[in-house]
Amino acid sequence: MRVCSIVGARPQFIKAAVVSRELRAVGEEVLVHTGQHYDEEMSDVFFDELGIPEPDFNLGVKSDTHGRQTAKMIAEIEPVVEETEPDVILLYGDTNSTLAGAIVGSKCDVVVAHVEAGLRSHNREMPEEINRVLTDHASDLCFAPSERAVDALASEGITEGVYWTGDVMYDSILEVRERVADGSSVLDDLGLEAGEFILSTVHRQHNTDTRANLESILDALSDAPLPVVFPAHPRTIDRLEEYGLRERAEAELEIVEPLGYLDFVRLLDTAERIATDSGGVQKEAFFLETPCVTMREETEWTETVDAGWNELVGADADAIREALRGDRTPEETPEPYGDGRASRRIADILQRHVDTAESELAV
Ligand code: UD1
Ligand code: UDP
Repeated sequence: MRVCSIVGARPQFIKAAVVSRELRAVGEEVLVHTGQHYDEEMSDVFFDELGIPEPDFNLGVKSDTHGRQTAKMIAEIEPVVEETEPDVILLYGDTNSTLAGAIVGSKCDVVVAHVEAGLRSHNREMPEEINRVLTDHASDLCFAPSERAVDALASEGITEGVYWTGDVMYDSILEVRERVADGSSVLDDLGLEAGEFILSTVHRQHNTDTRANLESILDALSDAPLPVVFPAHPRTIDRLEEYGLRERAEAELEIVEPLGYLDFVRLLDTAERIATDSGGVQKEAFFLETPCVTMREETEWTETVDAGWNELVGADADAIREALRGDRTPEETPEPYGDGRASRRIADILQRHVDTAESELAV
């Protein structure tokens, strides 16, 4: 079996790390980095820390408008697929790199498989929501992290090739949680005490590219009852600069560069709470039982909200302020995202699929 995995953005490196290892145990992987994220701290650090093999192809696409970026990726991925002739194209999540891979796979008539299929925010203004819907509909194999994701696919008529696998980020957290407790010095490095700070990240287009929303978030975080550590996505730094808010943000928050995964997980595990608009961070907070305030109106990870660990507050300053002071620690944590063996399941299903296709051809 030869699998062409396409990654390009920070969360995809983290997801691919655990799956790649399982894939390489049973077959061959051609790893393609689109270059959507390219700064050292948004890309290389994850390959180094998580032992992800060097990409076989780095397409160097970098930042651009959505249309041009996706188009460049499509143009660059197609010849890689023609050259390497994979049995499967494996895609992760909901970025432009995901959509580009889905389009090439379906045009080149290669089996397309999607990890994190069936996630829906039901907000079509999010570029990621369009990427998810289109990718699922172009996929032959949909790997759903939860039963709800399976149901969402069914409600759109996608019932064939759907597998409930659990969530690969849960695999990843279980693997690194103990390792970082001893191995990360980030608390000392940043002068933090466990339980005495709030960890915040913001990068969603809706929050960064609207001045009023970014300022409202900054207002609320500035009033937080504990110091706020803010590993800043480059997009957010750019916008703070553009709106003339950077100096104020640096004075009121502990702004740091984006962190490597191990240090970031250590902070997630030891923060008093999280304030974020990230998809992955909401889920990791839930796995680590750290209360999360999500600065969005809706989420595709609804199970975390139903379980009481996550609260949706949008970009409204008063709602964020109130949530950051609220008392909320549920007694129980359900396990809607599997058992930590999603990656193994995905590799097994892919292998069975390729073997079956080959034996059918032989007949
Ligand atoms: C992308 C994904 C989003 C995901 C996020 C993970 C899409 C539509 N969005 O958003 O779903 O949650 O990645 O972090 O695919 N930049 C740099 N250096 C980098 C990367 C980006 O400076 O290494 C800056 C550029 O100014 C760029 C901006 O960040 O224009 C946005 O980057 P882009 O990859 O387009 O979107 P993200 O906001 O990172
Ligand atoms: N992350 C990290 N360092 C940081 C911020 C986030 O390693 O400074 C990790 C985080 O643990 C999670 C992933 O990056 O696994 C989430 O990426 P991001 O928030 O950029 O994207 P999203 O999940 O919203 O698509």
